[in-house]
Parts: sequence; structure tokens; C-alpha cells
Amino acid sequence: MRIVLGVSAGIAAYKSCELLRLLTESGHRVRVVPTHDALRFVGEATWAALSGEPVTASVWDGVQCVPHVRLGQTADLVFVAPATADLLARAAAGRSDDLLTAVLLTARCPVVFAPAMHTEMWQHPATQANVATLRERGSVVIEPAVGRLTGPDTGPGRLPEPAELLRVAQRVLARGAGGLDPDMSGRRVLVTAGGTREELDPVRFIGNWSSGRQGYAIARAAAARGAKVTLVSANVALDDPAGAQVVRVTSALEMRDAVLAAAAEADAVVMAAAVADYRPETRSESKIKKAGPALPPLRLVQNPDILHELSTRRPRPGQVIVGFAAETGDVLANGRAKLAAKGCDLLVVNQVGGGLAFGTDDNEAVVLAADGGETPVPRGPKDNLADVIWDLVTSRLD
Ligand code: C5P
Repeated sequence: MRIVLGVSAGIAAYKSCELLRLLTESGHRVRVVPTHDALRFVGEATWAALSGEPVTASVWDGVQCVPHVRLGQTADLVFVAPATADLLARAAAGRSDDLLTAVLLTARCPVVFAPAMHTEMWQHPATQANVATLRERGSVVIEPAVGRLTGPDTGPGRLPEPAELLRVAQRVLARGAGGLDPDMSGRRVLVTAGGTREELDPVRFIGNWSSGRQGYAIARAAAARGAKVTLVSANVALDDPAGAQVVRVTSALEMRDAVLAAAAEADAVVMAAAVADYRPETRSESKIKKAGPALPPLRLVQNPDILHELSTRRPRPGQVIVGFAAETGDVLANGRAKLAAKGCDLLVVNQVGGGLAFGTDDNEAVVLAADGGETPVPRGPKDNLADVIWDLVTSRLD
């Protein structure tokens, strides 16, 4: 596919070098179109060498090929990363005072903006109005990540990690000229992912094998479909999904607090995290020593069942609540029983073992509905299961 990678003048331009690499390694032909000031951060030689294509910011180079029209017309995707406040303003106003903005006016393919700037600039009403205008016109504007910015300050405004930007690009390309379908725009969703850790002492914990991949795929899909996503993440070693606000927790009790705090605002909650059912009754302040042949006593107490609590409380009317169940044996019968016991609206049941579920990119599941529905999802990428879950959730929200 032909991709135009637009780069505007933000310090995060250095991350786009990695994005360019990932795009070309995935087999795409990429033309980098920086703004003039972007070249102060990363020079022409870097973009040209990494893309193997000529690089210019000006409409006055190679005029015989009419690049300001041809590049946009022939692109399958225009991806602007980083998109500064000024670039968003110029795009929203329909300016064409450099090659990149001219490309944006002539492109008829999907256009994605990945904004990166200081929090104040991002939250300014002028920038938010420009973002709303671009979204109304069908462009995808990714929510910036929350975290460390250029200086010591932190807040929303970070460019998501390059591998996550690649996933957004791949998703848009896979969906063709319609780009991303923002069918979840205006929705707020809460997703949990990962596995809780219950501390025994300063160096040990009771944990589980959950990698967080399925929950992250669910959060990523919702963000790509336009939802505002809060992702409560327990002990996951993955890049934050582009567009999701990540809240990090360690234990089941911390997860409960984070979930209950965010659930009141959420139209849907998907609890993909593996939450420990038990925790040690006490946490030793010092490391538990090996003492003779006698085994140290390990007394456990039950953790609150967050999914059950949420399903009983229903903090927001009309909210759709989805649980997960990793089962062995007669998974469907076990799943039906669990769905009734938990009281949620949908339960995603998957069989564990056999190379599925934990730590893999693929999954296979049946989604059981409280109203009797049963949706089998054949083995495939966790991203596919994520979209099926959101299809079922949105049909219930409507
Ligand atoms: O009972 P089981 O652990 O199999 O249930 C799995 C589902 O319940 C998952 O959605 C998980 O996130 C949720 N859960 C919970 N609180 C617990 C245990 C599980 O919310 N203490």
C-alpha cells in the first residue's frame, strides 16, 4: 500500500522514525512529507534513508510531477504523526501552505492524525474545536497518551508508541476507504486487563499467567471505534493502546477501587482481567524466612468479586457489563452457570490450555448472553474477538 507519513514539528518526530521503519518492514511504500519546521527535529537525510523515497516539505520541489496533488491522490492512507496544534489548526481550516497540508486537501483515502503536544495546547478549546471539525469530516484523530511530556511535566499529550500507531494504520488499511467506523464515538467504556498480584511479603506474591493481551486488544478496538476508553491494567508489560487512558493497579483490592471509581461514567464495562479470588490474610512487612522443616502457614481470605458486585449494583442505568471466564472441561455448561452467578449481561468463555488464551495472539471463545444468545468466535487474532465483543455490546446499547 502507498502511505504518506506526514510529520509536523513536534519533538515526538523522533518516534516517527521507528513508525516509518515498522511501516516499510510491513511491506508498505512510504513517502514522508514533513513540515518545514519538522526538519529542525529530524532531518531530510534520515527520512530519505529510512523510506528510500525523496523527501521535501515544499510544493516547489519536483514541480513537473505536481506532487502537491499526486501524492494525496495516489495514497491509500495519510498518517500524520506527530500532529501538532498548528498542523491540526491548518488542516481544520483547509489551508494548503506547504506540501503536507496540500496533500491533506487532495487525499481521498483515510486520514489519521496522531496528536502530540503539551497538555495545555491539547486541552485548549481552539485545538478541541479543530479536532472535532476533523473528526466530523471523517478523519481519525487518535487521543494522545497520558504520561511524561518533553519536560518534567506529565499529562495527556504524548504520542502513543510506534508499534501501537502501526496497529492503528493496519486497522484503517484493512477496513478500506471508509477508514475507521467511529460507531462508538460518544461512548465511554471501561476495560480491565492483566492479572492481579497479591503480596505475601516485600518480595513474593500470588499471581497468574494473564498477559493482558486480550484486554489490551479490547481497549484498542474500542478506542479505534471512537470510544473514550479507561483501561485498568494489572501488571501488564505491553505498550499502552493508542487512545486509551491507562490506570495501573497491582492487587484485586486496588482494581476494585479503580473499577468502581470509573464505572459510574461508563456505558459498558468489560472485565477481561484475571482477578485473584484469594489474597494472603496478612502481608508480612519483612521477607518471610525459611525456618526449619515446618511449612510457613499461608492463610488466605477471599477477595471481593468485582464483576459480581458491579453487576448487582449497576452504577449506571443501561450499562452493559461483560465478564470473562477461562474454563476447562464442559466449558459451555460451566460458562452458563457462571453467567447466572455473576449476573453480567455477556460472558466470554474460553477454554484454557492447548496453546490458546494465555500469552498468545490468538483466541477462540463463545460469547454467552444473559438473554440466551450464544455467539461462537472461531480461532483467530485477539483483535477479532475484541470487535465481536464490541459489536454485541453496541447492539445492546442501541
Ligand atoms: O470467577 P472467575 O474468576 O472465573 O470469574 C472471571 C470473571 O470475573 C472475569 O471477568 C474477572 O475479571 C471477574 N472477577 C472479578 N473479581 C474477582 C474474580 C473474578 O471481577 N475476584
